[in-house]
Amino acid sequence: MNSHKLVTICSIFLSIIIIGCASQNANKENSEQLTENNSVGKNETVEHVILNDSLRNALIESGNKIARLTALSLQRSLQSAIKEGGLIHAIKFCNIEAIPITDSVSETETVNIRRLAKKYRNPLNETNAMESELYKSYILEWLGGHELKPKIITDGNGHPVYYNPIYVGALCLNCHGEVGKNINEETAATIQNLYPEDKATNFKQGQLRGMWAITFTELKVK
Ligand code: HEC
Repeated sequence: MNSHKLVTICSIFLSIIIIGCASQNANKENSEQLTENNSVGKNETVEHVILNDSLRNALIESGNKIARLTALSLQRSLQSAIKEGGLIHAIKFCNIEAIPITDSVSETETVNIRRLAKKYRNPLNETNAMESELYKSYILEWLGGHELKPKIITDGNGHPVYYNPIYVGALCLNCHGEVGKNINEETAATIQNLYPEDKATNFKQGQLRGMWAITFTELKVK
């Protein structure tokens, strides 16, 4: 790993720890500290919380910051990969690094970051049944011209999850646009080779591409 990437990942790490702590402290009055055993038998501190408006707002603020930082890191890495070795190199870079960059934050065990899509490139990023419904409601709101807002939804394990739509920008079209128009033949062949199930093309600038899903694994809703 080159030092630039290491610095980027480390700075996300630090920021997340700081953001994670900030959101915990903001809601101490609603919570009690408990220690639980997780599935690997390791002690993990879980805070039991009441999902009231003040916690919801703090989690939205925290989620917004984490999503912005992660997007920035992915975009910087992507741009330097394109500059370094062109689009083909950048696709191979995404193939290897996209999930590890988002996962590196999860190692702090305070949040788990995912980028989800209904029309996915990597099947590991597919929305589940509940998330597909949520995404559908975002699309309907978007088609109706409404402003889309982040949401906090409790998952099956009781953890609050932050969701927020991801939009298609101009840079994204190189790999998620129309084949033959925005995506050249060589790029299309590389994508097809790495992702035989790819559904993530034919997007237009400004459309919805997917959603952030940031799980606050250290919190459990009472
Ligand atoms: C160089 C090509 C390239 C560019 C440019 C690119 N992506 Fe991707 N994108 C990929 C690849 C490859 C994956 C699959 C990564 C993986 O294996 O997790 C991906 C995955 C994603 C995912 C996760 C869901 C899924 O479909 O697997 C989202 C969301 C996404 N991209 C959004 C964007 C956005 C938004 C932009 C513009 C800011 C963008 N991408 C630019 C190649 C690219």
